[in-house]
Amino acid sequence: MTATTTGPRLSRRVQELPASQTLALAARAKALAAEGKPVISFSAGEPDFTSPSLVGEAAKAAIDAGDTHYPPVPGTAALRQAIVDRVKRETGHVADPGRVLVSTGAKQVLYNLIHALVDPGDEVVYASPYWVSYPAMVQLAGGRGIPIPTRAEEDFRLTPEAVEGALGTKVKAVILNSPSNPTGAVMSPEDMKAIVKLCLDRGVTLISDEIYGGLVYGDAKHTSAFSVDDPRVAENVVLVDGVSKVYAMTGWRIGYAVGPESLIKAASKIQSQSTSGACAIAQAASAAALDKAGEDAERMRQAFARRCELATELFKEIPGVRVPQALGAFYVFPDFSAYYGSTIEGTEITDSLALSELLLDKALVAAVPGGAFGADGHLRFSYALGESEIREGIGRVKDLLAKADPQPKG
Ligand SMILES: Cc1ncc(COP(=O)(O)O)c(C=O)c1O
Repeated sequence: MTATTTGPRLSRRVQELPASQTLALAARAKALAAEGKPVISFSAGEPDFTSPSLVGEAAKAAIDAGDTHYPPVPGTAALRQAIVDRVKRETGHVADPGRVLVSTGAKQVLYNLIHALVDPGDEVVYASPYWVSYPAMVQLAGGRGIPIPTRAEEDFRLTPEAVEGALGTKVKAVILNSPSNPTGAVMSPEDMKAIVKLCLDRGVTLISDEIYGGLVYGDAKHTSAFSVDDPRVAENVVLVDGVSKVYAMTGWRIGYAVGPESLIKAASKIQSQSTSGACAIAQAASAAALDKAGEDAERMRQAFARRCELATELFKEIPGVRVPQALGAFYVFPDFSAYYGSTIEGTEITDSLALSELLLDKALVAAVPGGAFGADGHLRFSYALGESEIREGIGRVKDLLAKADPQPKG
């Protein structure tokens, strides 16, 4: 075959993968800030806090001890032990370190797991709104994502009945994400238990992404899939977690899975042929976080709880905006669809992307369009920023929307 171009001929796989709206918007916000514009960014998916100091000290000690060689592919013995200890402490589930895989962030853990499970044509079920990477990872593995719609009016509840209705013969896995990115919704113990049991009964792997599990507020309680009392949990439930969000350690890039040995081994085999494992020094730092940084994590959680309340109250003051009550993670997900069809200074608000572009251009506020998460009526605002910025930023949103014509009814 003769090539028609001298440049690289990219794979169909990558060409079919949608570009990330989230990153494009974040890049524009950064460019405006670099020009000296007072941009307030609610787009970050990470805590604004720096990592606890004991984390840095553990990393320095690892360097001084010469801990600079390839670690074992599935993770260092010390970190895998710290993970099984934490899982036992938090959920009561007893696992041995052979059932643990440590990767370069929970993102890579999920990527490895999905590639270890999904053959072309297989289906993976998750709630919509969903974290942007679930459909992309399933697609990259040749599978088909099956989003189950959930509604703001029902607190984005994913019912066991809806999951059951989606479990066709091609479904290999169900992904749960509680607390949720982007909605902040938290599953009830009853729903968690019912969905775990349903997956076990049907022989479908349950991947429970609990990366925000330590970030719940008010009366909300986090229920881990591993806390469900059923001896079969060890056979087909995988817990995904990491240090990024709860310990403010996004840059260290450490996440982990605890699950059935056959799946952990398969995912580890993929890792052995791609990254060979996660940074040894970051693993030492993460073990210290899991063992000793509980107080730091609690201090940050309390700050997020205050900000969640503040941001929710401020959005409620904007006419026409509906604000679902977030109970966890660090996002609020208001519904702005009452403004769609209105015009602000000559620009029509057609969808969540148009509104987020307007907010950035005219109010210097960055938020992520809900369309990226399968919920075009909404925008995601991360409240991982200081309280005065939260006030100022949401005040700007309110002022801009006051210029919309027509104003939403009711
Ligand atoms: C729902 C969810 N899962 C997993 C991750 C991955 O986190 P990390 O790769 O930083 O551990 C994120 C990060 O944004 C997330 O929001």
